[in-house]
Amino acid sequence: MEIRKIAVMGAGAMGHGIAQVAAMSKFEVVMRDISEEFLERGMKNIQWSINKFIEKGRLRPEEAEETLKRIKTTVSLEEAVKEADFVIEAIPENLSLKQQVFREIDAHAPPHAILATNTSALPITEIAAATKHPEKVVGMHFFNPPQLMRLIEVVMGEKTSEETCKTTIELAKKFGKEPVLCKKDVPGFIANRVTAPGQNLIMWMVYNGEYTIEEVDAAVIYKAGMPMGIFALSDFTGLDISYSVLKFIEEREPNFKVSPLIKEKVERGELGVKTGKGFYTYPEKGKWVMPQIPPEKAERFDPMTSTYISINVAAELIRNNIATPEDIDKALKLGFNLPIGPLELADTIGIDTVLSKLKEISVKYGQYGDFYKPSPLLEDMVKKNELGTKTGKGFYKYH
Ligand SMILES: NC(=O)c1ccc[n+]([C@@H]2O[C@H](COP(=O)([O-])OP(=O)(O)OC[C@H]3O[C@@H](n4cnc5c(N)ncnc54)[C@H](O)[C@@H]3O)[C@@H](O)[C@H]2O)c1
Repeated sequence: MEIRKIAVMGAGAMGHGIAQVAAMSKFEVVMRDISEEFLERGMKNIQWSINKFIEKGRLRPEEAEETLKRIKTTVSLEEAVKEADFVIEAIPENLSLKQQVFREIDAHAPPHAILATNTSALPITEIAAATKHPEKVVGMHFFNPPQLMRLIEVVMGEKTSEETCKTTIELAKKFGKEPVLCKKDVPGFIANRVTAPGQNLIMWMVYNGEYTIEEVDAAVIYKAGMPMGIFALSDFTGLDISYSVLKFIEEREPNFKVSPLIKEKVERGELGVKTGKGFYTYPEKGKWVMPQIPPEKAERFDPMTSTYISINVAAELIRNNIATPEDIDKALKLGFNLPIGPLELADTIGIDTVLSKLKEISVKYGQYGDFYKPSPLLEDMVKKNELGTKTGKGFYKYH
């Protein structure tokens, strides 16, 4: 199927960026929002971003002009989608709103059109259920900002067809992006699902009084060599953002429990740097200073703790045929700017070591969710002596 015209629903943080990416990749774009004011703001943001591309020598001024000419705007949904080959929805994260908009898109778009949603967390299957063509509905999860982030998670709902998936992956590549395939719309898809439970475990450990926030961050900085501690980073991005991902997983994964440490802070409005207080206290609202943590606090905590959980969650995605090891590592590296993926790391550490750490964790923390119980795939790999680089085979093969 040839794609020429793309409609983008929403001109907000993600929508304007997606419209720009599509126009820079030479597609005709119509961007739709509910008021002229939002559309104008979206176009201003596109202009600002395009100027940055020119400043950095990544776009010539004449290309920039052509890119802008390819983007039309409208407040009419019908107008936006009536000739679209591909629709990308980036409206607020609200299931009933998305369902209503998908119902309308379905009524006005040509029958061959693919309808993609940029939802961060909602089930594709439930969004697709609002349409008469659920096989044409797919998740296309961009990362923020879409102009710069190379990862796109292509997510299948229960009824998404192979053909729809293939076309979406090809389109992502035409956008100059690196798509990964998530074959089931599990909460968190790949990148967020693999990382969030590990962070939650550490928050349980702190909540239960095993370690202090400073001990965790000190170990992450001074032992693992990360530029920032995980609690300091969470303050920086906003506790409400991390909490919404965790809360969503809790609602949809029967045994998963979010640590009260973050829940209580969010309820008190302590959201991090933007409110002046989160896990650390800042001089004033919005004023960031790096929390000072003495290196001697690094002794007790094992900074690999959240990595063991990431490996475990990833193993379950593989065992259930939801994602491949290559796509999981790619998603984590591109989504979170990591130098190495969790499964590449697992092979280096040794699957036997990972499994024995997970067994220790599961004794104390298995009650907080199935993510904290060792994956049968890891048990199997150990039985088969597929321990990673040391035996020549783990998640990957080594010669
Ligand atoms: N912001 C992120 O970091 C991020 C990352 C990945 C995915 N997402 C997802 O992308 C989606 C959009 O998020 P955002 O951060 O861009 O939100 P946003 O609030 O910045 O933008 C949403 C826009 O949609 C518009 N809108 C509302 N109803 C509409 C309708 N019926 N038709 C067209 N436009 C409508 C709003 O006026 C607004 O301009 C959400 O599902 C979100 O979960 C966000």
